[in-house]
Amino acid sequence: MRSLRTGSTPASRVTRVLTGALTGFALLGGLLLSAPAAHAADEPLRDLADAKGKVIGTAVTGSKLTGTYGEIAAREFNALTPGNAMKWASVEPARGSFDWAEADRIVDFAEANGQQVRGHTLVWHSQNPDWLTNGTWTAAELRRLMTDHIATEVGRYRGRLATWDVVNEPFNEDGTYRQTLWYNGLGADYIAEALTAARAADPSAKLYINDYNVEGVNAKSTALYNLVRDLKARGVPIDGVGLQAHLILGQVPSTLQQNIQRFADLGVDVAITELDIRIDLPADSAELAQQAAEYRQVVNACVAVDRCAGVTVWGFTDSDSWIPDTFPGQGAATPYDENYAPKPAYHAIAEALGGTTTPPTDACTATYSVVNQWNTGFTGQVRIACDGAALSSWKVGWSYGAGQQITQAWNATCNQSGATVTCSNASYNGTVPDGGSVTFGFNGTWSGSNPVPVVTLG
Ligand code: G3I
Repeated sequence: MRSLRTGSTPASRVTRVLTGALTGFALLGGLLLSAPAAHAADEPLRDLADAKGKVIGTAVTGSKLTGTYGEIAAREFNALTPGNAMKWASVEPARGSFDWAEADRIVDFAEANGQQVRGHTLVWHSQNPDWLTNGTWTAAELRRLMTDHIATEVGRYRGRLATWDVVNEPFNEDGTYRQTLWYNGLGADYIAEALTAARAADPSAKLYINDYNVEGVNAKSTALYNLVRDLKARGVPIDGVGLQAHLILGQVPSTLQQNIQRFADLGVDVAITELDIRIDLPADSAELAQQAAEYRQVVNACVAVDRCAGVTVWGFTDSDSWIPDTFPGQGAATPYDENYAPKPAYHAIAEALGGTTTPPTDACTATYSVVNQWNTGFTGQVRIACDGAALSSWKVGWSYGAGQQITQAWNATCNQSGATVTCSNASYNGTVPDGGSVTFGFNGTWSGSNPVPVVTLG
């Protein structure tokens, strides 16, 4: 399984590297001599998590699982959650007319890469199809719709998914039940009925109730606690609770670990299912460092409790995060920036999972990403960014490991000799100010695989 993963370079080695004088990089007679790997001991997050028996997952968008996005998703995470692809509106937009394409794509990708899948989500008040939301249903019809939906979707993936978020967000902040299509039509027992239907459709999947603002001990998490206790007492199949953990910088609940432990003591698993920590934009380096400390705190809390299954981040890159759309002016909430460079939060997660990463301290870095990829070609981009230094000209180089061939470049002059590529600035973009960046792009061909090379900035 794992051999199908393209590339095996941990995130901290994807971005590279600084000036020739500092790293020993040199171009001699067209031969690229790259710096010694500064992070050779780094391991992908998934290997660290596997060693601890924990999940490290990410929400993903199926259509993006190619290029650098797909490579990082496969390399760093041992579990995937479809961010939207398994929601009712996605899979049955018109009654009786199903679209499984994106959900199937994610499950297939996960299986090809030896990853678990967390199904998300079956019974929710949001992202339901209009025909369901706008319909008028008797209780019997509504029950039938719900249980048929569960049977169809869970049944489709029977035996292939590790976990299902069966019921999503059933509570209000004060611990009363949220007034939804399901609660209003069926009463609070819709939750037990949904869990029972899911167990029948796939006896091997772990069944969860998932909610937000239930990370610390509070009225909402206590309502969830009481519900789980009562469901267990009645013999209703409930295996775990999901704490979404959409957090705000500076507001990680101090009772997080205590709360995880009290659910574990009820005899259920706990998972952090949708972790992100949002910051008022623009995020400065002190805020990113604080965010890293808070990611570490969350992962530490899970690692400390045996029944905490693991942590899933709600998108691994700031370019694929729901935050800026929903909270204008906030963002930078995930462990990778918009150009796929790992942020301090990435290194904090690695360390909390037992890794020993050293964040790059270089003042200027070059980041290579595949921004689009099709059957035989791709578009790549390199971003050169400085923080603590400035450049008046630049040259980057890399060596392709799988026969890729550049056919065209823009905003730089690129030459390729064998596997070795060198690119230097165009006349108009040699200057990279302290705190600024430039990018250049290129098209290339590939076959077999298209791994991201280590880029050297000289
Ligand atoms: O697919 C359409 C696209 O065709 C259209 O062009 C575009 C225009 O806005 O919208 C696209 O749909 C968006 C969808 O995400 C897919 O990108 C919706 O507008 C947007 O509302 C939707 O947001 C999702 C949100 O749930 C809805 O509540 C986020 O991506 C998704 O990350 C988020 O996830 C939820 C979890 O399921 C439950 N917990 C909270 C979490 C954050 O809201």
